[in-house]
Amino acid sequence: MKNKRTDELVLGDRVSEPIFNKDGNLLLNKGSIINYEMLAKLKMHDINYINTLDELIDENPQEGIISEETMDTSINSVKKVFDEVMIREKRGLKGTIPDAYLEMVEAVVGKIMEALKVAENLLYTVIDLMDSDDYTYKHSVNVAVLSILTAKSMNYDDQSIFKIGLGALLHDIGKANVKGKLVQKEEKLSDSEVKEMMKHPEYGYEIVKDIESLPYMTKQIVRFHHEKLDGSGYPLGIENIEIPEYIRIVTLCDMYDAMTTNRSYRKKMPIHVALEILMRDAVYKIDANVYRHFTSTICIFPPGSGVMLSDGRIGIVSKYSYHNPTRPQIKVVDLASDSDEVGIELINLDEKKTLFIVDTWDVDAFKARLSPDIFADGSDGSKLISYLNEKKQA
Ligand SMILES: [Fe+2]
Repeated sequence: MKNKRTDELVLGDRVSEPIFNKDGNLLLNKGSIINYEMLAKLKMHDINYINTLDELIDENPQEGIISEETMDTSINSVKKVFDEVMIREKRGLKGTIPDAYLEMVEAVVGKIMEALKVAENLLYTVIDLMDSDDYTYKHSVNVAVLSILTAKSMNYDDQSIFKIGLGALLHDIGKANVKGKLVQKEEKLSDSEVKEMMKHPEYGYEIVKDIESLPYMTKQIVRFHHEKLDGSGYPLGIENIEIPEYIRIVTLCDMYDAMTTNRSYRKKMPIHVALEILMRDAVYKIDANVYRHFTSTICIFPPGSGVMLSDGRIGIVSKYSYHNPTRPQIKVVDLASDSDEVGIELINLDEKKTLFIVDTWDVDAFKARLSPDIFADGSDGSKLISYLNEKKQA
């Protein structure tokens, strides 16, 4: 049980005891699941604190492969390397990465590889802990983790995995030398800014090419991670066999992570949608075999994500199954009841073969903004609210 301030309530919080107003009239039944109407009711009656059960959304649903601490130190290390390269550029020194900084990123790759060895039977769920201006660094770490996982799944040896991981971690290092502070820019870039930004693989290669201790594979990843199999990529537009498989791994992970991360100008896509788009729109650009291995390593419906089922019910994923990642365990909200008291049923899709996930809804958007009007922007939250309202009226 948790005592919460009314303005901290989120969807899924269950009221642990009946709530009465000052006149002794019942406002909410025990077990009610908070929605925006109830929130308004509580505010109207000056109820500032209530006790909740917090059953629907687990606080710590399932442990991630990479701890937040490792993610945090990895992101910081990448940031330090970027800062150093930027400082050198400003001072007119030749772009390179000093040894001490190289050792730091090598240690990060080693740490990620160690963590992945321990977590053999876990699927990767991206941890969202970034400040917006950390995007490039967080993205680099995510791409490194995803690339290492995919290379592992494809049976690369440890030495090659290390070189790929290092390449993935440094793949965007050229952005440090992009003109006009575009790396930190959160707004959508103009056409000319995009053009400048597209030079980052070449800038990156300039930075790494003469560093003797850096492996060849790592340098090639920095140089060619935006090349596509159909020749539509950059900087050279090379195609098919000209692009080694280890580069294709990083390219795919880079594309995927960009699609599934929130930016100020674009909302992140749900994982299953990003995977569909990659397979549908990018089918000639990416390597199908790499894609197959990649999808076996990531968690498609991470614990805590909102889903809609084929029977019309909604719920929140509480646990995934490593062997059957599209059929997780779900806490389903039973909205059929007329009363405010809404039941929660635990369903294991692995056992209920006739049920399947047809859609997702954005729990974060809903949690962040518990009011009806703010969903007018067409975000996933509106779908959920109208669904909840329809159900209530029916
Ligand atoms: Fe890039």
